[in-house]
Amino acid sequence: MCGIVGYMGSKEAYPILMKGLQRLEYRGYDSAGVAILDHNKNLKVYKKKGKVYELSEFIKGKDHSGKTGIGHTRWATHGEPNDVNSHPHFSLSGNLVIIHNGIIENYASIKEGLKKRGHIFRSDTDTEVLIHLIEDIQQHENLKLHHAVMAALRQVVGAYAIVVMDKNNPDLLVAAKKSSPLVIGIGSNGDFLIASDAAPIIEYTKNVVYLEDEQVAVLRRGESLAIRNLKDKEITPYVQELTLELEAIEKGGFDHFMLKEIYEQPRSIKDSMRGRIIASEGKVQLGGIVDHEAKFKNAKRIIFIACGTSWHAGLVGEYIFEELTRIPVEVEYASEFRYRNPIIYPDDIVIAISQSGETADTLAAVELAKQRGATVLGICNVVGSSIARASHGGSYTHAGPEIGVASTKAFTAQITVITLMALHVARLKGSVPESRFRNLLYELEAIPSKVEEILESNNEIKKIAEKYKDNHNALYLGRGISFPVALEGALKLKEISYIHAEGYPAAEMKHGPIALIDEEMPVFVIATKGPNYEKVVSNIQEVKARKGKIIAIVNEGDLQIKNLADHIITIPECDELLSPLLTVIPLQLLSYHIAVMRGCNVDQPRNLAKSVTVE
Ligand code: G6P
Repeated sequence: MCGIVGYMGSKEAYPILMKGLQRLEYRGYDSAGVAILDHNKNLKVYKKKGKVYELSEFIKGKDHSGKTGIGHTRWATHGEPNDVNSHPHFSLSGNLVIIHNGIIENYASIKEGLKKRGHIFRSDTDTEVLIHLIEDIQQHENLKLHHAVMAALRQVVGAYAIVVMDKNNPDLLVAAKKSSPLVIGIGSNGDFLIASDAAPIIEYTKNVVYLEDEQVAVLRRGESLAIRNLKDKEITPYVQELTLELEAIEKGGFDHFMLKEIYEQPRSIKDSMRGRIIASEGKVQLGGIVDHEAKFKNAKRIIFIACGTSWHAGLVGEYIFEELTRIPVEVEYASEFRYRNPIIYPDDIVIAISQSGETADTLAAVELAKQRGATVLGICNVVGSSIARASHGGSYTHAGPEIGVASTKAFTAQITVITLMALHVARLKGSVPESRFRNLLYELEAIPSKVEEILESNNEIKKIAEKYKDNHNALYLGRGISFPVALEGALKLKEISYIHAEGYPAAEMKHGPIALIDEEMPVFVIATKGPNYEKVVSNIQEVKARKGKIIAIVNEGDLQIKNLADHIITIPECDELLSPLLTVIPLQLLSYHIAVMRGCNVDQPRNLAKSVTVE
């Protein structure tokens, strides 16, 4: 949650900060602000409720000159989204300004202490408390700014990525992090960029340092980057080269990132498989789990932990892993798992699934599973992310940056990697016949072109969306491995179009949702060929008998459901275990079109954020 960006160098800071904030807006977008400092020590701070665009409109015509600056786009935690609670925040004297991503959990007690010493607070935020504390320590102990930051952070409980700027020193920025991400870019001409992820940096330099937890970076104009830990021990920066390309974070002619990302799936699924299938040998290779193969062979249980769409990928994974490896699987919401004293055995394998690799609950669940002795593997999209680093091993999804808040290509990439992992483990265990194994590999390689075929039906899907765009409710049904796809379809619709939607196992409909069905209720049914096909046909009959509207996803050539349904969307056939990679595509497109037709902000739905770094 929240995106932060900082710049100090030879160029004007303002355009760099604003472009950076636009690229980070997926992290939060209820208010935004910048602080810019020029060489005459004039500090200009502009902040505003609303999107980054609204901030830039507000600043038009105002002085924003200066070559040092910080910026923030917010997802509110402490204090409602308004101008005052927007970042940057000032210290008591007004000389220090801060931007912050995270939560200072013990802010209330620190605030009380500071109030007793005469501090007056303007906002309701935890962040303002932190900058007051930093200044208080600096003044009372007569410390340099970075030492005061260290001392304050030693008192803090919680998560933070911060950048602090001092009105009296335009040649200095101090940054620090714990549990929230922070990347520092080092430009060729001594420029420094700081950001929550690499997107604002990539245009200016490929040389970056990922700050580690409890490290403080001291950026001085004209000097090299200095990093210290909270105990003031110097740390040698580890400079890495970014592999991210600029096109990957731009819309590339699409109206929205979400649509671009839906259309990227033939490529992203291929990228998730690239180099991992050795067709000639009928083998899967996953470098990140090589050291854990023995563990997998002897595992008594696999536990998937995740949130949101990634949790749905875990549910799909349960069907795939159990079928192929015969290892029992549990799928847990990370937020529930971490707080319920879970039973974890040393021979359990815990697999954390996370697009961002930064979700606070998933990260905490990873730490808990590690403490209790389980082997923890990560399936993350963002390379070098916290969950990837905290895990013992795992595999990246390589889907490329996902910017639309509603996850699409990350979901299919997660399922692809889970399938590869399950196939690999099945091979190790000998739990699947050779012919099925080879056939699944062959079918998996054919998935990207089948996704392309489905994308060609976009116009027909759009016409169906037109019919249901004004409904207030929707039901999604599926059985077996299609049930989690129904959940994901419902989530996509509610996230971006604000239509209430529920996903249900088709047979469970009789135990509740059937009461909701009337001529106003669209029911999206995943009814592809498989062992449950006839049962799903019966469920469709039950809906039709109550005048519900059926929109069915069926295989090419299906006539039975065609005669029953109000609309059908056809998709190519594939092995049932791989079907979620296909059945989810029309559901993504339907949600997208309905949201656009309803005038919703598809890429930045209200109240949501892409990366949930608070619990
Ligand atoms: C947020 C996003 C979802 C995502 C979930 C988990 O709610 O809006 O799209 O599925 O977080 O995120 P992760 O990065 O851990 O997959």
